[in-house]
Amino acid sequence: MAQSAVHHNVQAIVLAAGKSSRFKTGTTKLAYTLCGKEMVLYPLTVLQQLSLPTTMVVGYQKEVLKTIIDAAQVQVTFVEQNEQKGTGHAVTLTKEQWTADHILVMNGDVPLVTVELIQNLIEKHCAKDAVVSCVVSHNADPSLTGYGRVVTENGITSIVEAKDFTGDATATCCINAGIYIFKRSFLEQYTEQLTPNNNAKEIYLTDLIGIASKAGLPLELVYAPFDMTRGINTLKELWTAEHIKRSELIEYWMDRGVHFTAAQTTHIDCDITIGAGTCIEAGVQITAGSHIGENCFIDAFSLIQNSVLASHVTIKPHSIVQDSTVASQAEIGPFAHIRSNSSIGAQSVIGNFVEINRSSVAEKTKIKHLAYAGDAQIGSHVNIGAGTIIVNYNGVTKNKTVIEDHAFIGSNNSLIAPVTIAKHAMTAAGSTITDDVPENALAIARARQVNKEGYAQKVRSTPFIAAVKTDSTEIHD
Ligand code: UD1
Ligand code: CA
Repeated sequence: MAQSAVHHNVQAIVLAAGKSSRFKTGTTKLAYTLCGKEMVLYPLTVLQQLSLPTTMVVGYQKEVLKTIIDAAQVQVTFVEQNEQKGTGHAVTLTKEQWTADHILVMNGDVPLVTVELIQNLIEKHCAKDAVVSCVVSHNADPSLTGYGRVVTENGITSIVEAKDFTGDATATCCINAGIYIFKRSFLEQYTEQLTPNNNAKEIYLTDLIGIASKAGLPLELVYAPFDMTRGINTLKELWTAEHIKRSELIEYWMDRGVHFTAAQTTHIDCDITIGAGTCIEAGVQITAGSHIGENCFIDAFSLIQNSVLASHVTIKPHSIVQDSTVASQAEIGPFAHIRSNSSIGAQSVIGNFVEINRSSVAEKTKIKHLAYAGDAQIGSHVNIGAGTIIVNYNGVTKNKTVIEDHAFIGSNNSLIAPVTIAKHAMTAAGSTITDDVPENALAIARARQVNKEGYAQKVRSTPFIAAVKTDSTEIHD
């Protein structure tokens, strides 16, 4: 990212103490994600890319926000605003932190802002030598609520908050984006003049624009597209912003050779990569931390969560891959579930209704139908028959199963862990394997079949035996 305009004399303040009352969920809106990334991290990532030292004002659910920021390892100094008296009050509380010549202030709820927009704001502010510069956007939609409007009357420019605005919203379509840069000397001199003299009884940061204008001090309005400056006050606005962000991400990968057959139904997060030539079908979801190789095919309604797929991997419909890796040319699904640090080797096939949990599968192994492998280490060229369960849990402990290369597990086996099936060994269909099977051995662990001649006829002709002996089996005359 270009950083040419980084000024050593600029520091940033992000306002994040508000109550999110218009969200109506009881949780701070800044903890909600857009494309897999929490809203509070969006401005922070931009400021970090510009290397601006950042202070964040927190209050409502501050611990939630601090936990998110810590996990993302972003460097921020926190200032607490315990009573939310407005954006102007929030900025005043950071006074002790002011050291740079210019203080960039931004709302925490403008996630679509870009590095270029902030850079442009800093450049224009410095070029004009303004005391305050403010990002503004145009939107003539009269139903648009919640934004302060930039009004110029008798040569005085000011921001009139939605609750105080009485004019024609369609005519006054220039709105305040909530991103500003102030000269520190101006803030030091004028923040004390802010009063809660408005309908909301809050101390508005935005009053500083009118104050500067009235005092005849230079101020600058920097225009930016509305889609970049949308503020998120409601769940509806979150949905809109996420849609915009997701479209951007999809277009980014389309430009790099990724084919989305039904892009409008695909959900992809930030912090993923997808290789060229990969095709992504309808309803697919790829979440943060996932990396998809080249020429993969991810079929409909599959979920790839924090997982790595090498190149030429095929994921058939309705499959889930979570916190796992899949090597090249492997085939997964339909309806497969690979999870919890599992790994699937190159050219292996994991088929319908197969769950792989905390297990490794080496290359060219086939587990094609209705099976469960938990805590297993499965070698290469292994074939595991339909309906096989690796019984890893005895109700108290979880135990490990090892199946070595070229082993063949018959259908409908239960392998009771801990157990090892050595190289080239076989197990007979229907076996319950409790002991290790040596190399090249065939294990048969099931009751022998007994055929009772004529017994079926006897059962049918004796109603009492039929009722008792055949249990729920249907009897057809
Ligand atoms: C604000 C602006 C408005 C602008 C809009 C852009 C003010 C008075 N109004 O309105 O002109 O068009 O943003 O999106 O600034 N916050 C605190 N402490 C507080 C109050 C708020 O830290 O006491 C934080 C919030 O967490 C939020 C940000 O400041 O991140 C903005 O507050 P919000 O209530 O969303 O302001 P808007 O009504 O959107
Ligand atoms: Ca807002």
